[in-house]
Amino acid sequence: MTTILAISNQKGGVAKTTTCMSLGAGLAERGKRVLMVDLDSQANLTMAAGLDGDTLPWTVTDLLDASALELPEAERGAIYRAGMDGLDILPADVRLAGVERSLYDRGRYEFLLGEILQKWSGAYDYMLLDCPPSLGAITLMALTTAQMVLVPVQCEFYAARGLNRLLDIVAEVQQHTNPHLRYHLLATLYDRRNNICRTVLEQLQTHFSTAMFDTVIGVDTRLRESPVTGEPVLLYAPRTRAAEQYRQLATEVEKLFEENR
Ligand SMILES: Nc1ncnc2c1ncn2[C@@H]1O[C@H](COP(=O)(O)OP(=O)(O)OP(=O)(O)O)[C@@H](O)[C@H]1O
Ligand SMILES: [Mg+2]
Repeated sequence: MTTILAISNQKGGVAKTTTCMSLGAGLAERGKRVLMVDLDSQANLTMAAGLDGDTLPWTVTDLLDASALELPEAERGAIYRAGMDGLDILPADVRLAGVERSLYDRGRYEFLLGEILQKWSGAYDYMLLDCPPSLGAITLMALTTAQMVLVPVQCEFYAARGLNRLLDIVAEVQQHTNPHLRYHLLATLYDRRNNICRTVLEQLQTHFSTAMFDTVIGVDTRLRESPVTGEPVLLYAPRTRAAEQYRQLATEVEKLFEENR
């Protein structure tokens, strides 16, 4: 069975894409077959994998575009290797923003991504959906498709703001399109020398307790550098703290799903 995780937070810059790439690499290192799906028209994940979505013949945009559903070559050609064995990517490009607007006019659009990914379900142990910083049609579609939404939360004063809105959406999705959806929070960009950071982390852990990953991702400049190289941080700087923390996250994710199987 394929485990599908959506990585979502409508707040920008909280490490969604970084987490997608690094967790994907962590799972691939453990021998899992992983497909990352770039669902953001900014295509940052695609770039971090060393690809330019705007020059690729096929991307996720073509698969989501109604007119392309009968294009088997798009399905065959849209998956690329992402810097290491076992780690693949379905890239995005800037046209995805236009397709998102047209989704609302299609009935039951929330199920479209699941139907598309179904075709590859036998080929992967994990699918990681990198969502855009919004709660629009694409995010609703991702939450409908996933077993769990992983919410990266930056440890800063305003972190909790907006979290309620996201959790309301999760509740709505549970009610209407995906009763099995669970959520788990991941503390990111944690700076242990910063008092506010420490306080926010403690508050999150108290409030969300078991709905939080034990792993905390610290601030590490290597994570800023690795996207430029087209390599996951686990390859670019394998011995750094960030790499170790994402390996730990991969172990936690695996445990969480193996225990529930
Ligand atoms: N632990 C970290 N330490 C240092 N820098 C980090 C860390 N995690 C992410 N970054 C950097 O922070 C910036 C934002 O990260 P990222 O692009 O992953 O966030 P995002 O939530 O996907 O953003 P967006 O909402 O725009 O999609 C990037 O420059 C990234 O390299
Ligand atoms: Mg991103």
